Amino acid sequence: MATRSHKLKEKGGPSTSLYYKHKRHFGGPDGELAASMRYLHQRFSMPNKKVSSLLTDIGTEELAHLEIVGAILYQLTRDLSPEEILASPYANYFVDHTTGNYPVAASGVPFDMKYVGVKGDPLTDLAEDQAAEQKARTTYENLIRLTDDPDVIDPLRYLREREIVHFQRFGDAMRITQDDLDSKNFYAFNPAYDKK
Ligand SMILES: [Fe+2]
Repeated sequence: MATRSHKLKEKGGPSTSLYYKHKRHFGGPDGELAASMRYLHQRFSMPNKKVSSLLTDIGTEELAHLEIVGAILYQLTRDLSPEEILASPYANYFVDHTTGNYPVAASGVPFDMKYVGVKGDPLTDLAEDQAAEQKARTTYENLIRLTDDPDVIDPLRYLREREIVHFQRFGDAMRITQDDLDSKNFYAFNPAYDKK
């Protein structure tokens, strides 16, 4: 994986500024931590057991992805010199956290459960989950476009592919949930709370 001599390279700019863009995916609204927290909390109000289990599976997998992204970030930044840090947007972060991984968005705002939607309505939550997976895919594609280090691009491609699989599986979950509804309740009310 990346070492000091194999740092994240940003096309046309200092290597450390891209760190901010990666951090958005670490502790930001479309990051792996937000995805994991979203699914692991939504799972309880899913009436269908298969859908509830699917949310547990994907939420756990997203935690594993958090570890992958965290390892990339740490390996890219752990050996930066004070001069490199001072010349980059990473300097402010360094004052508070040195090169440790602290989950913040690119804006510098610490990770916040406000990013996590739990509406308690299966149809609403699954629609959000599908959108979240597409947003994560788009973000990974943007990161890949701005990176030319193959040791960084390869795991990002893998993570991007998993977002596509998750999007498809949430589509399956939506169909399963709709199949459980009767003709009187097709998007009309909340199947987790309204009984009829
Ligand atoms: Fe995902």
